[in-house]
Amino acid sequence: MWTMFAVLLSAFLIFHSGFADASTRSSASRETFIQHLLERMSPEEKVGQLRMRFVGYERPESEVLQTIGKGQTGAMFGMAPRPVLRMLQEAAVNHSRLGIPLFFGFDVVHGHRTIFPISLALASSWDMEAISRSARIAALEASADGLDLTFAPTVDLSRDPRWGRVAEGLGEDPYLASRIASVMVKAFQGIAPDKPGSIMACAKHFALYGAVEGGRDYNNVDMSLVQMYQYYFAPYRAAIDAGAGAMMVMLGSINNVPASADSWLLRKVLRQQMGFSGLTISDHGAVEQLIEHGVARNGGQAAQLAISAGVDISMSDTFYGSQLPAQIRSGQVSRRLIDEAVYKVLAAKYDMGLFEDPFRRIGKALDDPVDPHSEGRLHRAQARDVARRTFVLLKNRNAVLPLAKKTTIAVVGPLAKSTQDMLGTWSAIGDKAQAVSVYEGLERVVGSAALIYARGANVTEDKDVIAYLGPSEIEIDPRPASVMIEEAVQAVRKAEVIVAVVGEARGMSHEGASRTSLDLPGHQPELIQALKATGKPLVLLLMNGRPLSIGKELELADAVLETWYAGTEGGNAIADVLFGDYNPSAKLVMTFPRTVGQIPSYYNHLNTGRPYRLNEERNYTSQYFDATYGPLFSFGYGLSYTEFSLSQMALSSNVMPRSGGISVSVNLANTGQRDGETVVQLYIRDVVASISRPVKELKNFQKVMLKAGEQKVIQFTLDENDLKFYDAQLHYVAEPGEFKVQVGLDSQNVKEQSFELR
Ligand code: BGC
Repeated sequence: MWTMFAVLLSAFLIFHSGFADASTRSSASRETFIQHLLERMSPEEKVGQLRMRFVGYERPESEVLQTIGKGQTGAMFGMAPRPVLRMLQEAAVNHSRLGIPLFFGFDVVHGHRTIFPISLALASSWDMEAISRSARIAALEASADGLDLTFAPTVDLSRDPRWGRVAEGLGEDPYLASRIASVMVKAFQGIAPDKPGSIMACAKHFALYGAVEGGRDYNNVDMSLVQMYQYYFAPYRAAIDAGAGAMMVMLGSINNVPASADSWLLRKVLRQQMGFSGLTISDHGAVEQLIEHGVARNGGQAAQLAISAGVDISMSDTFYGSQLPAQIRSGQVSRRLIDEAVYKVLAAKYDMGLFEDPFRRIGKALDDPVDPHSEGRLHRAQARDVARRTFVLLKNRNAVLPLAKKTTIAVVGPLAKSTQDMLGTWSAIGDKAQAVSVYEGLERVVGSAALIYARGANVTEDKDVIAYLGPSEIEIDPRPASVMIEEAVQAVRKAEVIVAVVGEARGMSHEGASRTSLDLPGHQPELIQALKATGKPLVLLLMNGRPLSIGKELELADAVLETWYAGTEGGNAIADVLFGDYNPSAKLVMTFPRTVGQIPSYYNHLNTGRPYRLNEERNYTSQYFDATYGPLFSFGYGLSYTEFSLSQMALSSNVMPRSGGISVSVNLANTGQRDGETVVQLYIRDVVASISRPVKELKNFQKVMLKAGEQKVIQFTLDENDLKFYDAQLHYVAEPGEFKVQVGLDSQNVKEQSFELR
């Protein structure tokens, strides 16, 4: 059947010169091609295109192969070796009546085979080039494994670190997350999604998933329209503007309406207002879950609601397949509605280049890698370089770091030898056997004779938590906590410095992994106290996927380095930073609260009518009386081994005409002893407006490298667009009046000037 199709296709190829070049293809040829195909499809075949099924790693189930052969499955998700994908694709193109190829989607979130740091860490690098490189490599590796689409980037903003999926996101700030969303989409897709080494990006989860109430996964989102439009929608918009071919719909509900049944969200906001013309894909089983949500009585109603709302593809589908064909025939669901959705699927396949060559990423059997896990397929040097750019130095008393390479180091902690945790959540096809632990990374530099190891504690000993994470996700030493701590204390006595690798097991910062506490779990706090009591300098290496309330540990430690989950080359990258071969340059993209009770805690908050002010009477001000005001660490914070200072901030004018702009300059100096990079951050505050505006909002930044002793004038420009916001009627406006401009190396310690928009 594919042959017939190929004939049709080649007719188009001959007729439309330049067809093979995506950039010169006319949309008319794409439309004619798809329309022609649509006209020939039966209701079952149309609905088939709207169904995505799971691919098992082993040989596919015969039922799956049969439905593909009947043209009743349009796409697969999950990961399987190329021969399995080939078998599935052959079933589609050789056995189904119209030979329409499948596409294969997978969660390639922060690397595919070579695992890069988790997305929250990548964002913390504020390094667009490094982030782009990581996504480009992920696309190359994923396409070489036969994949056509990634369920990434995850662009859900979040202000709630209890939500386990903050690890997958890009932090709390709309501007920074938008910049990164755009960079990642472009890197995944390359020049175009059909080019060699490119895959289509499916940004997710539309929309607002990061704002689930209480940080409890899958919960309702209760949010004002101003919050949505001003903040949370921004990164999805950026992904669309960057050309993302697909968008995943979030599982939960917004203001009581499940997203997969929300035509306001998917038709008005996504299609009309944001101008998205690509493919929408439900999240896993979302159509079925409309029954649990209590908006559908049965499968028929669920399918009808979702397709009407604008969900094109149903992931892990049952109801589209079982219900829609009859509903089309009876007229309950209009053909136009179905055709619109099928059109989007076929257009996406067209854009992926699958009609030209269904095997363009799966390749020929002859070319299948003998060993898919071979070292030669990894990009280790790149992973190491990117990873070290993501570590945030939170404290460095008496310049304990970097360590001298001749030091005897006690390496302690439940995560010190873990390679699995190093890969982090959603680590695609990353192989823990190929990952470098902290211990190994240090050993490669100083040799095993300089290292003394003790586990010291388990990440957790809570039986319910262990059962929840699953036995393969957490390693437990059965010895009593006191014995393990004592062993660590003895080990430490022989060392000059302690490096304690503590944090969360990776499964704790994952989908469905919400926490009520942000403290270090298990006996790790006691371990740290005992280590401190030895009087040896104490370096904490944190491995975690969310902000933690580590106030006590911070006081005890001499140095704290936040390393997140750093990926395949994590241990080597950490060693680079610990020994000073790389000077840390990352900055937090999510506020670290002092206690879980301060959530939501975010830098771009409103002032309120009774703001708390340092050194003033606290009563009747907006704060918690039983905790120190403010977070432990603010957005944008991060130290370096060198010192940077800002001076001579100046504006080109203190009046901005509407059609014009102003420039902001500041002198940045590296006043320390080492070369290093830092992030100069530009914030604004709209002092008086028709609605309350945040105390500050990031509007631009530059990551700058300076040699020791070097200085540089950093320039930014601001124009009217930077001052716009959504007012109470959701008009996007810049209102005249006074604005403050702030520049800083974090969001709190800033230099400030004012100007007026006229
Ligand atoms: C997650 C998505 C993911 C999908 C497919 C779902 O449970 O919410 O983010 O893309 O599974 O793996």
